[in-house]
Amino acid sequence: MKAMICEGYGSGDDLVLSDVAKPELKTDADCVVRILASTVNDWDWMLVRGKPRLYRLLFGLLRPRWKILGAEIVGVIESVGASVTEFNHGDVVYGDVSEAGFGGYAEYACLPVASLRRVPDQLDVELAAALPHAAGLAWQSLVDVARLEQGESVLINGVGGGMGVLGAQIAQHHFGCTVTGVDKAFKLEALHWLGRADALDYERVDFTGTGQRYDVIIDAQTTRTPWRLLKALKPGGRYVSVGGAPGRLVALALIGPVIGRLTRRRFHLLALKPNQGLDEVETLVLAKEIEPRIDKRFALSDLPLALQRFGRSEHIGKIVILPK
Ligand SMILES: NC(=O)c1ccc[n+]([C@@H]2O[C@H](COP(=O)([O-])OP(=O)(O)OC[C@H]3O[C@@H](n4cnc5c(N)ncnc54)[C@H](OP(=O)(O)O)[C@@H]3O)[C@@H](O)[C@H]2O)c1
Repeated sequence: MKAMICEGYGSGDDLVLSDVAKPELKTDADCVVRILASTVNDWDWMLVRGKPRLYRLLFGLLRPRWKILGAEIVGVIESVGASVTEFNHGDVVYGDVSEAGFGGYAEYACLPVASLRRVPDQLDVELAAALPHAAGLAWQSLVDVARLEQGESVLINGVGGGMGVLGAQIAQHHFGCTVTGVDKAFKLEALHWLGRADALDYERVDFTGTGQRYDVIIDAQTTRTPWRLLKALKPGGRYVSVGGAPGRLVALALIGPVIGRLTRRRFHLLALKPNQGLDEVETLVLAKEIEPRIDKRFALSDLPLALQRFGRSEHIGKIVILPK
């Protein structure tokens, strides 16, 4: 089969489309899946470059532990292990496979059944590919961690990314919240459903300096200290850091709880549990309450171009990779 092989940390340009052996079932709880689509996520970009360097301690000192990256997939079941009762040959499945050894940037992958869910017939394959990772980030940060309530005010920093596009719609349409989205101007303009008054271009406006305060802040980048963030959080407000530079995340983990106790706010870091919340988000997509946004489609052989687009942060929503 064809696969994009990552032999070492680099820029992504050095990924090579290679012929490798088609994967076989490794355990009774595995499925072999023919990949229909995958996407580009921050995990993939981080593993391709080995940056931030600190993460090499976890994911491989000299090269990523996994040669075939690709953190989420949609595909067709080819074969199942003896103990798999959930799926049969021909079922279309999807999932965030970042804790299952990755493997989306290939024609086939062997994946544990626990990392997969059935794709409903009504759900388009490419939209399905765009859901699992971002849906988990958005649902878990808003619902499981921030415990969002109907009608609250929400700010999403990084609203133009995979998590932000879904999170803003979940808050707006499912929880009836007023949502302020923060990102670059060209991304905000593309998100027509985000009202003009509620879109902040972070190159011109600092959301902690407007005087406006929110019940919930979901932050894809964590570029501010908790002290600074207090200026934008209402009493009782919850801040959830979804991602950011390791130093900022460590600082938040150490001082966030203390500042929170002193100021009646809560500071949280999200630890993603792959595919948790996917069922709920899938229901909202099928009900047309929310809509994933596909940025661009690339062939598997053009993965380096897709990674460059992601790395330059030109994407709005999700970049989809198609093996054919
Ligand atoms: N907590 C966990 O367990 C976990 C697991 C997986 C991933 N993550 C993290 O989840 C985060 C969100 O993922 P995603 O898929 O939505 O990422 P994404 O698609 O890269 O979106 C991030 C968005 O943030 C914008 N941005 C960058 N700098 C900004 C700033 N200073 N202020 C406001 N917006 C800014 C980016 O646009 P511009 O760069 O053009 O501004 C982009 O639109 C990532 O940081 C990722 O590492 C966390």
